[in-house]
Amino acid sequence: MTRNLEKCLKLVEEDRAITSPAAKVPYYPLVVKKGRGAVIEDVDGNAYIDLLSSAGAINTGHCHPRVVEAIKKQAEDLILYTHVYMYHEPIIDLTKELIAISPGDYRKRVFYGLCGSDANDGAIKMARTYKKRPKILSFIRSYHGSTYGALSLSGVSLPMHRGLGPLLPEIYHVPYPDPYRPPVPGMSPDQVSDYCIDYIRTAFSNHIPADEVAAVFIEPIQGDAGLVVPPKKFLQDLRKLCDENGILLFSEEVQQGFGRTGKWFGIENFDVVPDAIILGKAIASGLPLGGCVARAELMDEWEAPSHLFTAAGSPVCCAAAVATIGVIRDENLLQHTAELGASVKARFEEMQKKYELIGDVRGIGLSIGVDLVKNRDTRERHREAAAKIAYRAWEKGLLLSFFSGSVLRIQPPLVVTKEQMDVALDRIEESIEDFVKGRIPDSVLETVKGW
Ligand SMILES: Cc1ncc(COP(=O)(O)O)c(C=O)c1O
Repeated sequence: MTRNLEKCLKLVEEDRAITSPAAKVPYYPLVVKKGRGAVIEDVDGNAYIDLLSSAGAINTGHCHPRVVEAIKKQAEDLILYTHVYMYHEPIIDLTKELIAISPGDYRKRVFYGLCGSDANDGAIKMARTYKKRPKILSFIRSYHGSTYGALSLSGVSLPMHRGLGPLLPEIYHVPYPDPYRPPVPGMSPDQVSDYCIDYIRTAFSNHIPADEVAAVFIEPIQGDAGLVVPPKKFLQDLRKLCDENGILLFSEEVQQGFGRTGKWFGIENFDVVPDAIILGKAIASGLPLGGCVARAELMDEWEAPSHLFTAAGSPVCCAAAVATIGVIRDENLLQHTAELGASVKARFEEMQKKYELIGDVRGIGLSIGVDLVKNRDTRERHREAAAKIAYRAWEKGLLLSFFSGSVLRIQPPLVVTKEQMDVALDRIEESIEDFVKGRIPDSVLETVKGW
């Protein structure tokens, strides 16, 4: 635990003085220098097993040689010629790939942007224009991004909203089914599901006319809310409800897409076919790219210039994305993620038997949340435990974070090996033990802010 952090601490001070605090949710003074696979190294030469994947953006692992090669090769030929005015091959190659791997046996089209946030904004515009209806439904405690449209869809953080209004009008938030913290204690997952569907039905018959609703935006697993996995029944009933009312269903895959759950897209775990998927983060292994694959008719008549960005779908980002899809496919990362994810979850479930503190273990594939509580009956979130354990794990050579105040976030690059995960899990268990024994000082709470 006696690591040299000299350069890290100095650079953190410099950064703090000159960059905007509005973009910073720090956990510890980690200044990243290099990354390979599931391991990163800081500027002082300390190595960490990465359980965060740069917020779920690096599914193929840091600097995967095939992705690096694709970027270099494309950058030598052409970095950008805007697709707004011209055409280029990498965007066509990527579009064909996305159409092939995305759910839905229907004709599709794709639009691009620069990140997950603007992909959501584009999807709002697309839905409103196509349906000629103004209203949108999204979910309480969802996170869709930081642009005004995406922020208006979101509902998980007060500081994110406070003082920023007016937001986009006609966006309505409804409850997301959380089986661990149900609206009424003791409800079964099916009852939670029915409660949330009934809530929407009630809204439709009282204050949100269904025939004015263009689309429902849903994360197949609510990521920043703490990896809340909805009952399968809910997504299936939601699909039916949308169909009954001519409403589009969009699966927001920015965090759960590109193999994170052991399938190409999170929604596939629920046997539901959405009308569009919204993409970002891992699509280009870290280069800025986002977009949306949708039923073609949603875009067939969409007039220019309704939604475009100069650098959206740049040749370099598209080449990186084609390589990313190739790596996930050729290295069997979907199967690896499903198998390794199941064993990681089982190990946390074993820990849960030992530590009262672990209230819930949930997730699919390598998208696992470990919810820490003060009391298993009340399920009160244990923020102090999450912060101290994440900090101690960092001291032990892991990049472990938490969100929603209490949920340890286990989202390593999908290339992480079983051996690396075994080491990581041992260190997490030691950190939990340290917390339980009162061996982590309160002073660490000054450093960890967390999501
Ligand atoms: C589910 C989800 N949607 C959208 C976003 C926004 O993506 P970006 O920050 O790349 O714009 C995020 C980012 O955390 C996310 O988790």
